[in-house]
Amino acid sequence: MATSSTKKWWKNAIVYQIYPRSFCDSNGDGIGDIPGIISKLHYLKELGVDVIWLSPVYPSPGYDNGYDISDYKGINPEFGTMEDMEKLISRAKRLGIKIIMDLVINHTSDEHEWFKKALAGDSKYRDYYYFRDGKGRKAPNNWGSFFGGKAWTKTENGDYYLHLFSKKQPDLNWHNPDVYEEITDIMRFWLDKGVAGFRCDVINIIYKESLENGKRRFALTGKEHYLNTEGCHELIQRFNAEVWSKYKTFIVGETVFVTPDDAKLLSDESRKELDAVFFFEHMDVDSRGVKWFKKAYKPCRLIRILDKWQKALEVPANYLENHDQIRSVNHFGNTGKFWEKSAKLLCGLNLCLKGLPFIYEGEEIGMTNGDFRGLRDLKDVESASVNQAMKRLLLVHSIRRRLILRTTRDNARTPVQWDSSEGAGFTTGTPWLKINANKSYINVKDEKEDENSILNFYKKMIEYRKGSHALNEGTYRRVASPSDVYIFTRESDEQRLYIYCKVGS
Ligand code: NOJ
Repeated sequence: MATSSTKKWWKNAIVYQIYPRSFCDSNGDGIGDIPGIISKLHYLKELGVDVIWLSPVYPSPGYDNGYDISDYKGINPEFGTMEDMEKLISRAKRLGIKIIMDLVINHTSDEHEWFKKALAGDSKYRDYYYFRDGKGRKAPNNWGSFFGGKAWTKTENGDYYLHLFSKKQPDLNWHNPDVYEEITDIMRFWLDKGVAGFRCDVINIIYKESLENGKRRFALTGKEHYLNTEGCHELIQRFNAEVWSKYKTFIVGETVFVTPDDAKLLSDESRKELDAVFFFEHMDVDSRGVKWFKKAYKPCRLIRILDKWQKALEVPANYLENHDQIRSVNHFGNTGKFWEKSAKLLCGLNLCLKGLPFIYEGEEIGMTNGDFRGLRDLKDVESASVNQAMKRLLLVHSIRRRLILRTTRDNARTPVQWDSSEGAGFTTGTPWLKINANKSYINVKDEKEDENSILNFYKKMIEYRKGSHALNEGTYRRVASPSDVYIFTRESDEQRLYIYCKVGS
């Protein structure tokens, strides 16, 4: 059993994700920023947050809202200055809140100095990326990109570079030892500034074992050559041994397409890789292979999946929302008559499961999907590329509109609703993304005042969780139940809890 000295500081933490662009705008330019986050630290403290996962705040041309980094040691002027960032770290620390930063190391922006030098022909930097000659008039291989379309783009010189995401996000070549040196130097830079760890973006695809053609699939042809490769495990072990372990960090990996067995390899304590991983199976509960094509959501399926992951992992990273997924009340609940009840149920579920609960900004007030009028309201690069890919499949506008609006990542990225005013207390200017009209009744100010609100339910649940031995230390066991009711126990030597969630309507 872990003693207080060996126990990891993050084991019982409540983690809150901030998507800076949409959180709080302090200067009226319509874009959330770091001073805005600082102004809400007391709110987060009151909610019971221990750790903030900060989505990227680095300089970036912003094609993927910061997941395309052009300078890993700076701060995007849209969000503030390095001084602001240092202030955020120290103010949060004073309140007992730690900050983990998003670390995007599968790719850089094409506007990063390294890539610019590579394009200009500097051989040192060309080897930071994957530049290859085409095969005849075709790309070097048949791989597909996560955002739809091909994973290769032709340069003006006639060769191609690899990008598993947009063409503005060229993949780094992790076979090159210089890339390792550069990125570990960046990690140390931030850890020395007092950051407590990282959320590592798509970490299980960074090491490409070969550039062979992939088995043809409807989506993501080629993935067998880069998913969970041995080289990736070795890299993560080196990060851990040479950097992370020296700073007592908390590291959570975004691990796409993981099975429980993959996840165990990546996060089992004895292997000294990641502390926790995000799995996706529950997010895909209603998708037919790709998220754009949906099938009916069945609560019993969600229960089966959550149960499987609870049993598989020691410390699952539990989440029902993030900046890439639709809002949980839309996904697994109800936004009409049972909006409040379903938001509270999802809160209870997330906070009672074994593992680490992650809460995404706005989830604590029951925010719903965006109320976009059409595709023109959307800003997300993924939605734009998928729209193009759907056009190539000859899908008509009305179908594309329906498929994309219900699934777009922008659903989770609408500004946080702090109050019911025109700018929702988010901004005094024009918001970068449409604010949901339901700010009139879904907002922090009103919910603070209502004792029975979703927000106050979150506060109570978090407080209860913090004081509960069973929820922090206890085992998990599912209890037989009707198919849309999830009953499980959490049991420690001091306490036994029965948790009853009626997930179906
Ligand atoms: C996963 C991030 O969560 C997502 O927002 C981003 O578009 C891709 N990785 C590419 O970095």
